[in-house]
Amino acid sequence: MVNFLPMRSPLSKRQNAEFSSEIKMKIFEDIPDMQKFAESVRKSGKRIGLVPTMGYLHEGHLSLIRNIRKSCDVVVVSVFVNPTQFGIGEDLNKYPRDFKRDQELCRKENVDIVFYPEVPKMYPEGYDTYITVEKFSGIMCGVSRPTHFQGVTTVVAKLFNIVKPHIAIFGEKDYQQAIIIKKMVQDLNFDIVIETSPIIRESDGLALSSRNKYLNKNDRKNAVLLYQSLQHAKKLFQKGERDILIIKQEMAKMILQIPNARIDYIEIVAPDTLRSPDQIQERAVAAVAVFIGKTRLIDNLLLEQ
Ligand code: PAF
Repeated sequence: MVNFLPMRSPLSKRQNAEFSSEIKMKIFEDIPDMQKFAESVRKSGKRIGLVPTMGYLHEGHLSLIRNIRKSCDVVVVSVFVNPTQFGIGEDLNKYPRDFKRDQELCRKENVDIVFYPEVPKMYPEGYDTYITVEKFSGIMCGVSRPTHFQGVTTVVAKLFNIVKPHIAIFGEKDYQQAIIIKKMVQDLNFDIVIETSPIIRESDGLALSSRNKYLNKNDRKNAVLLYQSLQHAKKLFQKGERDILIIKQEMAKMILQIPNARIDYIEIVAPDTLRSPDQIQERAVAAVAVFIGKTRLIDNLLLEQ
């Protein structure tokens, strides 16, 4: 069942035309328009790169745009707060939105197309098809957010069919998401290259996220302990510690210095399979999800020598 928000007022055709002639960036709100345009780009032999986003863009998104630009001719950014990836009681309604600012940032990055559909266009009345990557979706973030990844894979598959990209890029902050999308692409034979791009951090190490906006001053200061706990895990690993339980306990001790923190999970997993062995072999990814007050933050770091 798709959770609908009140309709926003669409850009008028005139507004859109003025906008695109002024800054040479097109905004498509309709799926057939986007598909027709994508088809014509493909016919001209150009490569399309897609940066899927939920808007409220920050430096992390901008780095995705800059990175994908290197391997395509036409950059499409999708801006869509996808209701199917939010569970009941999650922050769909208050998820930050500022399309005007997003447009401006895209324009500055020389984005070619912004795809900005309304919810009923993506999920019309009677919508009934979902994609699930079974095993990967039920672990880590999938334990406390059991419908989240189904929503992500469904909307990403739809975006692939609408934008028709040759290549799409995802941030490594959502490590599990990137693995799940790669698996979907492999299993469903999408002819699309999936790239990932490193986490962009604030100067104190906090991973950039649109949800950082929810943090008050004190919580924002404390939030850096997530990254510090990951760095601590890496140091322990580099000193020879291989026992996952010991590393996780050390990380938890650090995170729980935050008075209003609740650990959703701390996991140390194999980078490709997301399996959690007792002992780390050569490399592993340490990943955390922590509520600070009501704000759920995630972060991860590769443990390697
Ligand atoms: O990572 C995100 O912002 C979202 O999960 C995505 C991939 C745009 C799908 O809505």
